Amino acid sequence: AASKVNGGSRSGSIVAPLVVNEEFQNIDVNPPKGTRDFPPEDMRLRNWLFNHFKEVSRLFGYEEVDFPVLETEALFIRKAGEEIRDQLYCFEDRGNRRVALRPELTPSLARLVIQKGKSVSLPLKWFAVGQCWRYERMTRGRRREHYQWNMDIIGVPEVTAEAELISSIVTFFKRIGITASDVGFKVSSLKVLQEFFKKYGVPEDLFGRVCIIIDKIEKIPIDEIKKELGFTGISDDAIEQLLQVFSVKSLDDLEDILGGVGEAIADLKQLFSLAEKFGYSEWIQFDASVVRGLAYYTGIVFEGFDREGKLRAICGGGRYDRLLSTYGGDDIPACGFGFGDAVIVELLKEKDLLPELGQEVENIVCALDKDLQGAATTIATALKDKGQTVDLVLESKPLKWVFKRAARVNARRPVLVGKLVRSVSRFCLQVSNFKSNLMTWSSSI
Ligand code: HAM
Repeated sequence: AASKVNGGSRSGSIVAPLVVNEEFQNIDVNPPKGTRDFPPEDMRLRNWLFNHFKEVSRLFGYEEVDFPVLETEALFIRKAGEEIRDQLYCFEDRGNRRVALRPELTPSLARLVIQKGKSVSLPLKWFAVGQCWRYERMTRGRRREHYQWNMDIIGVPEVTAEAELISSIVTFFKRIGITASDVGFKVSSLKVLQEFFKKYGVPEDLFGRVCIIIDKIEKIPIDEIKKELGFTGISDDAIEQLLQVFSVKSLDDLEDILGGVGEAIADLKQLFSLAEKFGYSEWIQFDASVVRGLAYYTGIVFEGFDREGKLRAICGGGRYDRLLSTYGGDDIPACGFGFGDAVIVELLKEKDLLPELGQEVENIVCALDKDLQGAATTIATALKDKGQTVDLVLESKPLKWVFKRAARVNARRPVLVGKLVRSVSRFCLQVSNFKSNLMTWSSSI
């Protein structure tokens, strides 16, 4: 068996034999369930997407940050019973420390803000694009590993911060061809729940747990929701009222239920007024059922959704003014959003908006004769010194092969290095207009 070499067909087979320590082992050549490889064609799409994320963030004056993918497990453990806790990829490292692959970026950002302390001047406007890990039930657009684009503002208590964050997402959508008739934002405020709690005398420490339960409203039957709310100790009457609040779709109706304009409604009205100034009113709508599945939000919350209702949330975020103190820091007003890389690609597919991205290289340089490989290398180096991209063919190849490859890599200019049959010993044949096959001579590149 040891004499056999690695194999497996390039297209059909998914299991390749591998020689390890003189013994045969079969490895699954697919990546672990829920994770992805990024071959060049997928990497091109990923880079295209991430470039838009980054360019939009910079357009709004945000600075890029990053954090380790591996964090201490404690950073992600909160009391409210969030789904995210059960989805944690966590383990003990060789030094017996409990660690976890980050399921989101916000706790790391909070950690870094606390660590920086007074050395940074507020407000901070930060963005990050990073890989997150969640042991999720796999559905369309939900994976066990995904990348998230985050933009966060630390140190601004005003609704202007939320308004700017939504504006940046709208800017991103517009750049990639998504319109307000394709997607919208459902917006609410967790202060609605706080005001409700006050009115019905529900203890404040149930806040996080109730949000997590309400977040499941569209995913599990309403009787289950009622049962789970009952377990928290809230009275049946309050549960009925609560569910009525969360079905409200207009600020006027909410005002009636809550008996006047409290902070929640005032904040939301301000957001809608700012949306007009930013020019994205047609993108946002009030929907009290948005509470988010993470327990740290304290004020306005929002989620991006596709209007056809085929996909999971495209993005989500909100205000989290009290997260820092849960880690022992001083609270600083904060808000932000996370935008995944998976649902948006599904949406682009639905709308037939996926960009066509081929490989791009300016020159393909090829020696037509083995002896001229050195000359071809010199030419390729000269072109690269000039800042041009070059695919240098590393073996001598026939003309036909070069033209085929040039077409495949989208080379704008094939540079062919060959020998002149009689008096001139070397020349470089430069095809200056590849498409019309018009060839010009050049011996001086
Ligand atoms: P989140 O709603 O849990 O919020 O995730 C934000 C976005 O990440 C989702 O809307 C979705 O686009 C993407 N996402 C989440 N889980 C998955 C998954 N399993 N597969 C694919 N995509 C996924 C947060 O994570 C907050 N930390 C966002 C935030 C930042 N809030 C304030 N700042």
